[in-house]
Amino acid sequence: MHNFDDLVHAAAAAFAATDDPDALEQIKASFLGKSGQITALLKGLAKLPPDERKTVGAAINRAKESVEAALNGRREAIRRLALEARLAEEALDVTLPGRGQSRGGLHPVTRTLERIDGLFRSIGFDVADGPEIEADFQNFTALNTPADHPARSMHDTFYLQDQLGGVAEGILLRTHTSPIQVRYMQAHVARYAGLETMPEIRVIAPGRVYRVDSDATHSPMFHQVEGLWVGQRVSFADLKGVVNDFLRRFFESDDLQVRFRPSFFPFTEPSAEIDMAFMSGALKGRWLEIAGCGMVHPNVLRHVNIDPEKYIGFAFGMGPDRLTMLRYGVNDLRLFYDGDLRFLRQFV
Ligand code: DAH
Repeated sequence: MHNFDDLVHAAAAAFAATDDPDALEQIKASFLGKSGQITALLKGLAKLPPDERKTVGAAINRAKESVEAALNGRREAIRRLALEARLAEEALDVTLPGRGQSRGGLHPVTRTLERIDGLFRSIGFDVADGPEIEADFQNFTALNTPADHPARSMHDTFYLQDQLGGVAEGILLRTHTSPIQVRYMQAHVARYAGLETMPEIRVIAPGRVYRVDSDATHSPMFHQVEGLWVGQRVSFADLKGVVNDFLRRFFESDDLQVRFRPSFFPFTEPSAEIDMAFMSGALKGRWLEIAGCGMVHPNVLRHVNIDPEKYIGFAFGMGPDRLTMLRYGVNDLRLFYDGDLRFLRQFV
């Protein structure tokens, strides 16, 4: 009884010694190939006496099957090893959060400006704008602000340099949105020049303004929204009505603390400042000035060729940055302009 176990074990050991698929096929050839050991054994059968051939042949075939089984097992194992190596190499943690694309949001002051825009449009106001580099005439002179007024000083106003480094005559960064009143009235007067009575002016003008100023409630760049209503019968009561109604709708509350405090502006007479109290946050109950207002001064109307005997109006200049502070209970205006996302994200 022939036994080829040693040969089978030798083959299995040789297969196990490599993990390279090409080398494995070479080793296979040395057992099962044309001149391989098993093949040689089979060839040798012919020389055996016929009665032994059958049993020896059967034993060789069993050995051949075992070697083939060992070969296939090793092929499979090598394939798995290669796959595992590749998976390890290309490992990626599918539980990590994706990079994604985070959503942007509107700046809180932009939200306020959009709300103001919508609320005034809803009561029939036009929305205008004007240049941020403004002429001295529109920013000051036409607004009844004389040459020696402190607002005109270098301490308060950013002037522009000319090419020689000196102060450029007659132009500056607008210190308020009030010059848009002037521009709007000039255009209105020109457009309706032929009419006996011009249509009413109802306009707001939001925009950026600039002053030499920086503390918790002032930033060198800030926003204002100018308002102007000029007609033949416009009163201070209308001013209070429009402002109070606007504030109620803006803050979505009838329960606001608002006061009109007598004040002075060169371009209005009488003039007032409007204060509102914080409704929430650390400053709850504290008053904050949110606007200046008044009845348009006759000299302003004269500067734009509107007859102050026939027309009258009110104007206001509101601080949307401050309305935003009040709406969200924010106590430092500069936070809006630091660009710190941890702060800004809260409003998205
Ligand atoms: N322009 C003023 C300022 O910046 C604010 C202001 C006050 C605007 C009264 C007005 C007004 O239209 O009537 O301080």
